[in-house]
Amino acid sequence: MLQSCLFTAFLAFRLLYTSHAQSTSSACGNYSLIIDSLEAFEAAQTCTTIAGDLVIEYVAGLPSIVEFPNLEQVNGSFLSLNFDENILASELSAPKLTTVVNDFYISRWVNLSTIDMPLLSTVNRIRLNNLPSLTSANVLSSLETIENNYEIWNTSLTEITNEKLQYAVFVEIYNNPRLEKLEMTALRNASYDIALRRNRPDMEVSFPELVEVWYFEMQQIASLEIPKLESVIGHFIVNSSSLKTLEAPSLKTIGTWYDPTISITSNFGLKIQNCPNLASISFPELVSVQLDIIITNNTALEVVDFPKLERITANVGIEGSFTNVTMPALERVGGVFYLGSDESGFDCSDFSQLRSSGGIRGEYSCPQYKEPPNRQGAFYEGDPGELDSWLGWLNGTNGNAPSGGTSINPLGIEAIAGICIGAAVVLQAF
Ligand SMILES: *[C@@H]1O[C@H](CO)[C@@H](O)[C@H](O)[C@H]1NC(C)=O
Ligand SMILES: *[C@@H]1O[C@H](CO)[C@@H](O)[C@H](O)[C@H]1NC(C)=O
Ligand SMILES: *[C@@H]1O[C@H](CO)[C@@H](O)[C@H](O)[C@H]1NC(C)=O
Ligand SMILES: *[C@@H]1O[C@H](CO)[C@@H](O)[C@H](O)[C@H]1NC(C)=O
Ligand SMILES: *[C@@H]1O[C@H](CO)[C@@H](O)[C@H](O)[C@H]1NC(C)=O
Repeated sequence: MLQSCLFTAFLAFRLLYTSHAQSTSSACGNYSLIIDSLEAFEAAQTCTTIAGDLVIEYVAGLPSIVEFPNLEQVNGSFLSLNFDENILASELSAPKLTTVVNDFYISRWVNLSTIDMPLLSTVNRIRLNNLPSLTSANVLSSLETIENNYEIWNTSLTEITNEKLQYAVFVEIYNNPRLEKLEMTALRNASYDIALRRNRPDMEVSFPELVEVWYFEMQQIASLEIPKLESVIGHFIVNSSSLKTLEAPSLKTIGTWYDPTISITSNFGLKIQNCPNLASISFPELVSVQLDIIITNNTALEVVDFPKLERITANVGIEGSFTNVTMPALERVGGVFYLGSDESGFDCSDFSQLRSSGGIRGEYSCPQYKEPPNRQGAFYEGDPGELDSWLGWLNGTNGNAPSGGTSINPLGIEAIAGICIGAAVVLQAF
C-alpha cells in the first residue's frame, strides 16, 4: 500500500510540474521549478532561494555544465530523475548551495560525471543512483546533517569520504564497481543500517567514531576499522571479503532488539562467511549475541576465541580448519551447537561439558559439522514464539519474554521499515 501510495504521489507531483513548465525568474518563488526549457534554466540561474522543488529534466541545448551560480537554498527537493531522454550535460554545479530541505536525489543522468556542491551541508536525504559516469561528487564530503539516507548506488566513484556527518538513518552503498575506499570519520550512529553490497571487491572501510548501528552488513571489503563500535542492535555480517583481520575491540552486544511480528526485519546475529584470507578475528568484549553465530568458509582462520561471550540466543554454526575454538565464559546457547573442525585431535571437551551440564538447549555436534537451520529473509516466520521461548529458557523463566534489559523498544521501527520499502520502490521505479 505504501508503495502504490508513494508512486501515485510521485506521478501526481510530476504532473503538477509539467503544468508549470514555462517559468520565469519569478519562478524562484513558486512551489515548483521545473527545468525543461532553456528559459526555465536561465530563470533558475537567477535564484538564491527556491521556494519549492527544483527539478531538472531533459532540455535540448542545455550547456554541458549545468550551473546554479546564485543558489543557496532549496526549500523543497532538488531532483533529476530522468524520465525520458538522457540529459546530455556532464556537470552539475551549485557553488553556494548549503541546504536542500527535502531530498537531493539524482538518478539515471547517465552522462553526469561531476557534481560540484562544495558547501552543501544539510539535506533530508541524499540519493545518488544509477549515475554510471559519476567520478566526482564533492557533495558527499561536505554533508554535515542528514535526517535520513546517505545512499550511493551505481556510480563510478573511487572514494567516498566524509568527516562531518555524525548521524544518518540509512548508509547504503551498493553497486559501485570502482569504489576503493569508504571513510566516514565522524559517523557515530546509523539508526537503520550501514550496508555495503556488490561494490568493487577489496574496499577499505573505516568508521572510527561509530558507536551504534542497527544492521551492519559488509560485503567484499579488504579492511574494516570500527574501534568504538559498542552495540549492533540487529545483525553484524562480514561476507565475501578479502580482509585478513577483523577486530571489533569495543563491541559488547549484537542483537539487542527483535520483533518477530515485523516481517521486514531480517536479523541474522553474527555472521562471518566466505573470507578466504581471514586469519584472525577479535571480539574481546562481546558478551551476547541475539540469534545465531555463523562462522563458515573462512579457510585461513585457525583460531576462534570469544573470551567474554556468555549468551547466544539461537544457533551456533562454526566450521573450519581450527586448531582452537574457545569461549570460556559461555553459559547458555538457546539453539543448536554445531562446531566442525577438520584438524585431527581437535578438542571439543569444553563444549561437551557445557552440553552435559545443560547449557546447550538444542542439538549438539563436535567436531563433526552439521548445517544449522537456515534463516532466510524474515526470521521466525514459521514460529514467532520460538525466540520468545528461547529467551525464556535463557533467563530461566521458561517461555516468557525476559524481564528488562534484553529487548529494547525501538523508535518507530515500523516507520523506518516503511521508508525502506518506499525507498526501494522509488529506486526501482527510477
Ligand atoms: C509561478 O510560475 C508561473 C508559471 O511559470 C508564473 O506564471 C507565476 O507567476 C509564478 N508565481 C510566482 C509566485 O512566482
Ligand atoms: C546502473 O545505471 C545504469 C543507468 O541507469 C543502468 O543502465 C544499469 O543497469 C545500472 N546498473 C546496476 C548494476 O544497477
Ligand atoms: C542513535 O540514534 C537513535 C535514533 O536517533 C537514538 O535513539 C539512539 O539513542 C542513538 N544512539 C547513540 C548511541 O547515540
Ligand atoms: C554473501 O555474499 C554473497 C555475494 O558475494 C551474496 O550472494 C549473499 O547473499 C551474501 N550473504 C549474506 C548473508 O549477506
Ligand atoms: C567459500 O568462499 C569462497 C571465497 O569467497 C567462495 O568462492 C566459495 O563459493 C565459498 N564456498 C561456499 C560453499 O560458499
